[in-house]
Amino acid sequence: MTSERLVVALLCLGQVTAQLSILSIHEGVDLEEKLLRLLLRLRVEQSFDTLVIYGEECAFHSMLRHSLGPTELVSSGSTESDWNFSSSTLILSCGASAEREGNYRTLMKLQMRRRLLYLTEDNQPEEVCHNYSLKEQYNIAMVKADFVQSGSIYTCRCFQELNFEELDLFDHKPIFVEQFRNMRGATIKTLADQLAPRSMSYHDEKTGEEKMVGYVANLINSFAQKVNATLDFRSVRKDGEKTESVFKDIVRWVKEDRLDLGTTMVSSLQVLNLDSFSYPYLLTSYCLMVPIPARLPYNQIYAVIVDPLVLCIILVLFYLLSALLIYSQQLSWRGLTLANILLNDKSLRGLLGQSFPFPRDPRRNMKLVFFILCFASLMITTMYESYLQSFFTRPPPEPSIRTFQDIANSRHKLAISRFEMNVLSARKSSNIHLIRRNRICVLEDHEDFVLLRNSFNDSYVYTVSEDRWSTYQEQQRMFAQPLFYYSLDLCFNRFLFFHIPLRPHLPYRHLFEEHMQRQQEFGLVKFWKSRSFFDMVRLGVTPMRDSSLPPYINPSILVNDISWILKLYGAAMGISCCCFILELWFWRRRRKPHNAILQH
Ligand SMILES: *[C@@H]1O[C@H](CO)[C@@H](O)[C@H](O)[C@H]1NC(C)=O
Ligand SMILES: *[C@@H]1O[C@H](CO)[C@@H](O)[C@H](O)[C@H]1NC(C)=O
Ligand SMILES: *[C@@H]1O[C@H](CO)[C@@H](O)[C@H](O)[C@H]1NC(C)=O
Ligand SMILES: *[C@@H]1O[C@H](CO)[C@@H](O)[C@H](O)[C@H]1NC(C)=O
Repeated sequence: MTSERLVVALLCLGQVTAQLSILSIHEGVDLEEKLLRLLLRLRVEQSFDTLVIYGEECAFHSMLRHSLGPTELVSSGSTESDWNFSSSTLILSCGASAEREGNYRTLMKLQMRRRLLYLTEDNQPEEVCHNYSLKEQYNIAMVKADFVQSGSIYTCRCFQELNFEELDLFDHKPIFVEQFRNMRGATIKTLADQLAPRSMSYHDEKTGEEKMVGYVANLINSFAQKVNATLDFRSVRKDGEKTESVFKDIVRWVKEDRLDLGTTMVSSLQVLNLDSFSYPYLLTSYCLMVPIPARLPYNQIYAVIVDPLVLCIILVLFYLLSALLIYSQQLSWRGLTLANILLNDKSLRGLLGQSFPFPRDPRRNMKLVFFILCFASLMITTMYESYLQSFFTRPPPEPSIRTFQDIANSRHKLAISRFEMNVLSARKSSNIHLIRRNRICVLEDHEDFVLLRNSFNDSYVYTVSEDRWSTYQEQQRMFAQPLFYYSLDLCFNRFLFFHIPLRPHLPYRHLFEEHMQRQQEFGLVKFWKSRSFFDMVRLGVTPMRDSSLPPYINPSILVNDISWILKLYGAAMGISCCCFILELWFWRRRRKPHNAILQH
């Protein structure tokens, strides 16, 4: 019994030692097989189409034989050319410090790609993960030299106590996970630009926290909520630091990595590349808001209805009719004098619709001339009558501004902030060059400009983006009459994209952009925009009152309105009285010699 057992044990032992020796011979082959298995598993998790191998010759180089896809060998540790290829790349590194990428664009493009390291030295996964997270590269997995025996894979995890996890090749747990989907309360550093209605901070009475609302702020809020992060507004601004404008600070600090993302928007006029900006968040236009032309005051209506061209035509008609009347009286041009034509009282009275002496038995052609005269008089008097009456009922508007050149001829100036002026004048194609410089009022401080625009002062036209205009429009609904309209004829840019500033190496940029697009898709952005005016009222940013002036036009005509017409009338009466007195006087002087002769 015991000898049998001994034999079996010896046999087993022999087999094991034999297997071990075979194993050591075939270890290279086994390692290759296991690594291939691992790569295939990674490909199932998420497909890749390119391999990049950093570092000198190691086990990964044997993968070249298996044609897993196009492979780039970077033995020096850094690429020279920009990495402009498709982004589904898997990075293999021979050793913990083989990758010494120095190319900025390649670093950006490959930042969030999956990385698999083959460690030959005895490196601690914890330290490797830590070193990579300092470089802001998070999707890291590694195998050690004993991978053939142990089959262990170490994979880095952030936002948890132990920063890595050990998995087995035959586990079904995913090796790489989207770690930023749950940031477990990690902070996102941001700052609100306080440009209503995009983002407005306020102090929440209930919780005592600082919060923000607005259609950009809501996007950031909901993102933080989605990834289970907290927003940090405080730590960014150092005490006593001088700032010229919050907006400029945000854009600069985002570029300098001091902020993760800015709660503001930058227009595509200022964006050269998307390194520190997101995909477009909004599409709007950037045009002018123009005061609705005021109604003409009543006292100008008499002047408005007299069109110079029409007046000329009427005068020509008057002289023609006078000449015809003179000719038709005697069928000859004998009575034709300048005075008879210019001061023909029959023709004048006829045209003005007054009665005039009619000869007892006129000739037939004279009757015809009278017909023409009466008909013309009917036309002219009814035309002016209806003009006057309808204009008194509803005065016509002042000429409106349709082109950029019209601004020069109107009483309005263009109000613009220095910042926007600089952006616009830097662009050759911009319409700002069509406006004369003395018709532009440049405000140095953007906030002053916004205050002026909020005051609805109708001495100016203002630059405004369509999304900001929507809140003005909402506000105008409370006015007795709207004051401004958004002119799509006067645009600096009809397709203006707005981007959110993001830190260039933000590791969850893709999550943020996906979130942003989802909010658009669900119509939440539209909803937030429609709510913005009420948020502004709630936070006291804008008053809920009627800024329109008391109606410019009085509903009734006053004597004052037609006083100058009456004055003209009085002056004309005075002149004619003078003429009459002079005539009487001349007549006396001429009568006197007659009387003297008669008395002789
Ligand atoms: C990659 O793109 C950048 C900018 O888009 C360009 O300047 C560079 O020449 C491109 N590199 C290659 C190798 O095509
Ligand atoms: C991690 O970084 C430190 C400091 O740069 C370096 O001394 C160490 O060798 C690195 N460790 C690994 C495993 O790369
Ligand atoms: C969110 O983060 C907190 C820590 O701030 C954590 O306690 C909580 O479990 C996280 N929520 C989820 C759904 O993981
Ligand atoms: C509008 O602005 C002009 C010029 O700055 C100023 O004279 C006028 O008083 C302002 N109007 C109102 C209603 O504030």
